[in-house]
Amino acid sequence: MPALVLLGAQWGDEGKGKATDLLGGSVDYVVRYQGGNNAGHTVVVGDQKYALHLLPSGILTPDCVPVIGNGVVVDPAVLLSELSGLNDRGIDTSKLLISGNAHLITPYHQTIDKVTERFLGKRRIGTTGRGIGPAYADKINRVGIRVQDLFDESILQQKVDAALHDKNQILVKIFNRRAISTAQVVEEYLGYAEQIKDYVADTALVLNNALDEGKVVLMEGGQGTLLDVDHGTYPFVTSSNPTSGGACTGSGVGPTKITRVIGILKAYTTRVGSGPFPTELFDDDGARLRTVGREYGVTTGRDRRCGWFDAVIARYATRVNGLTDFFLTKLDVLTGWERIPVCVAYEIDGRRVDELPYSQTDFHHAKPVYEYLPGWSEDISKAKTFADLPQQAQDYVKALEEMSGAPISAIGVGPGRTETIEINSFV
Ligand code: GDP
Ligand code: IMO
Ligand code: MG
Repeated sequence: MPALVLLGAQWGDEGKGKATDLLGGSVDYVVRYQGGNNAGHTVVVGDQKYALHLLPSGILTPDCVPVIGNGVVVDPAVLLSELSGLNDRGIDTSKLLISGNAHLITPYHQTIDKVTERFLGKRRIGTTGRGIGPAYADKINRVGIRVQDLFDESILQQKVDAALHDKNQILVKIFNRRAISTAQVVEEYLGYAEQIKDYVADTALVLNNALDEGKVVLMEGGQGTLLDVDHGTYPFVTSSNPTSGGACTGSGVGPTKITRVIGILKAYTTRVGSGPFPTELFDDDGARLRTVGREYGVTTGRDRRCGWFDAVIARYATRVNGLTDFFLTKLDVLTGWERIPVCVAYEIDGRRVDELPYSQTDFHHAKPVYEYLPGWSEDISKAKTFADLPQQAQDYVKALEEMSGAPISAIGVGPGRTETIEINSFV
């Protein structure tokens, strides 16, 4: 029966793709439940590297059914190009299922995303420019286009027309851009209908039936807890709910079916785009984390902002997601530092604060309070068991576990599927 949730515990890019791929071998379904092609999930299998944006990372596991849930926003052009890219590399993608209730990203969403960011100037969010926010805004505003609308030309026409009515006014009168033609959008999107129709299904029904039959379902989050529109560093967030509650609404699986919630946690911290980041480094240590950890965006190629581990954030992730486990990634990147700072609390206007402040202004002013843990110099990338790690690395992991509030059940010591120390099994 079990449904498992796997999600980012920080600001995204924690290594969710690798972790999902690793678990893919022991689960029957992998479901994306929110976000869209703003995600960039890297999976390394042997000497092959895959960058997935929209497709669930389970697509690389032959017996696993990949599912795009109702909570995802789908750019059909990206979907088709990602599928054909994988097919060209010999990956069978025929099992994919896409919810008919998932919303579509259209060219006008991308245009609005980009012009809005430009208009915001210094106050910009630093979005991926993929149209994510505007597509979710339309969903909530009840003028979104769903996957199922592709199969009824007259409905599609009416809905695109309704959606463009206001948007064209805004594009032309506020942003000084050309109006977008309904006919052009409809023609382009009808062209996608035939190509994706065989994948479309009532995915919530499929998943619940599978759970009733005793199958294992893994729900894979995009982005991360601090990018959640409700629980993250609003407004510097994405427009969906990567936190565990989003797994239910975004897949149609009820909370009583979920047995494990696994937070993917990097052994340090990164962030892409604007917004507060208390442990951010602007010195040689930050540059070294970026170089050694290869912290460059998979989707936009931007340098990731880098900083030390923040235990306040990890504790917060445990709380808002009800985490049962952590999967600690990229421990190998910390090899070679004599001592490693770990943020255990913040100082805000002279006061020590142990929990994430709910006031945005306070969070912007938060200064990290560091504890310094001894580092190690041995190569740990070949470690297979916890005992293989040098004592200082073991102590670092134990200290993080203690501070973060949930057991660390796996540790990543390299990007490859097998470069993982499994401590407690997930399935
Ligand atoms: P995601 O968005 O959470 O799936 O993460 P990304 O794929 O954007 O970024 C994580 C990066 O770290 C990828 O390049 C992974 O191949 C890599 N990675 C994942 N786990 C580990 C690890 O334990 N050690 C190292 N060195 N790299 C890792
Ligand atoms: P994965 O799944 C890191 C960030 C963007 C921006 C903010 C809003 O690979 O962890 P959006 O385009 O979603 O409206 O941008 O969210 N962002 C991510 N940062 N990893 C991601 O995905 C991200 N997806 C969005 O940089 O700050
Ligand atoms: Mg990523």
